[in-house]
Amino acid sequence: MSAVIEHRVDSDNEFKQQVANSFSAASQSYMQGARLQQQVALDVLALLPKAPSGHLLDLGCGPGWLHPRFAEYCSAFTAVDLSAGMLAKAAQAALAKTYLQADAQQLPLCDNSADTVFSSLMLQWCAKPAAVFREVSRVLTPGGKVVMTTLVEGTLSELAQAFASLDSYPHVSRFLAVDNIKQAALAATDIRWQFEQRRYPLYYPDVQSLARELKLLGANQVAGRRNGLTGKGYWQQLAQAYEGHRTMLGLPASYQVLIISGVKYGS
Ligand SMILES: C[S@@+](CC[C@H](N)C(=O)[O-])C[C@H]1O[C@@H](n2cnc3c(N)ncnc32)[C@H](O)[C@@H]1O
Repeated sequence: MSAVIEHRVDSDNEFKQQVANSFSAASQSYMQGARLQQQVALDVLALLPKAPSGHLLDLGCGPGWLHPRFAEYCSAFTAVDLSAGMLAKAAQAALAKTYLQADAQQLPLCDNSADTVFSSLMLQWCAKPAAVFREVSRVLTPGGKVVMTTLVEGTLSELAQAFASLDSYPHVSRFLAVDNIKQAALAATDIRWQFEQRRYPLYYPDVQSLARELKLLGANQVAGRRNGLTGKGYWQQLAQAYEGHRTMLGLPASYQVLIISGVKYGS
C-alpha cells in the first residue's frame, strides 16, 4: 500500500511552528537518542488489548518506529504528527492507512472514528492538553480505549538543580503538575480515566552526553535553551554542579512519566 500524506496544519501559532520545526530538524537523528521514548512506548503499548481489528490513531507518531508493532492491536491505523519531517520519516515504511500532518489539539477527523487512541510523549508539547483530551473523547468510538503518556513535573530535576546553582534562568522546560493534567483529562467526562506515574531514570557518563541526547531528539531548542550556554566555562560549572548527583551507574536524569489510560463509556 502506498502512503498517503495529508497536510492540514493550522499554522498560526508560533509555538506550534517552533515545536514542528524542531522535531522536523531532528527526524533523522531521533532514533539515536530515543532510549526513554522506546522504553515508555513499549511499556504502555502492552496495556492495550491485543486485537488485530479496528482503527487505531497514533497521535504524535514521531518517526514511526513503533508502527510495525501495531498489527497486533488494530487492522489499520492513522499516524498523526505536527511535524512534516517526522511524518515523512514515518511514511517511508508505508504501514499506516493515512499519514496526517495535523495538530492533536484540533484533529481533522470525524467523531467516533477511532477504536483505539495511542499517544506516547507528545502531550507535553501541547500548550492546551485539555483540547487534546477533548479531541480524543470526540474521535473515540463508544467502548474505545485510549493510552497516552506525558512527561510531568520533576522531569530532569537533577539538570534543573544543576542549572539553578549557576543562574536563575529556567533552562529546563517546566512540565505540568500531575494534578493539572488529571484535571484536564477529567473534564472529558465520557471517558473513565486511570492515571499512573512512573519514574524512568536514565544514566549518562557526563552532562554533555545528556545535552547531546536532547539535541538528537529535537528537545533542546524548545526546552528552555539560552544563548551563550555553549561557553566552555559555563559547561564546566554545570558539569561540576551536576557531579553531586553521580551514582555508580553514572549521572542520573529522572524522567517522570504520567500514564493516562481510559475507556469511553457506551459500547
Ligand atoms: C517526543 S516525540 C514522540 C514520538 C513518538 N510518539 C515516540 O514515542 O517516539 C513527540 C512527537 O509529537 C509531535 N507533536 C508535538 N506536538 C504535537 C501536536 N500538537 N500535534 C501532533 N503532534 C505533535 C512532535 O512533532 C514529535 O514527533
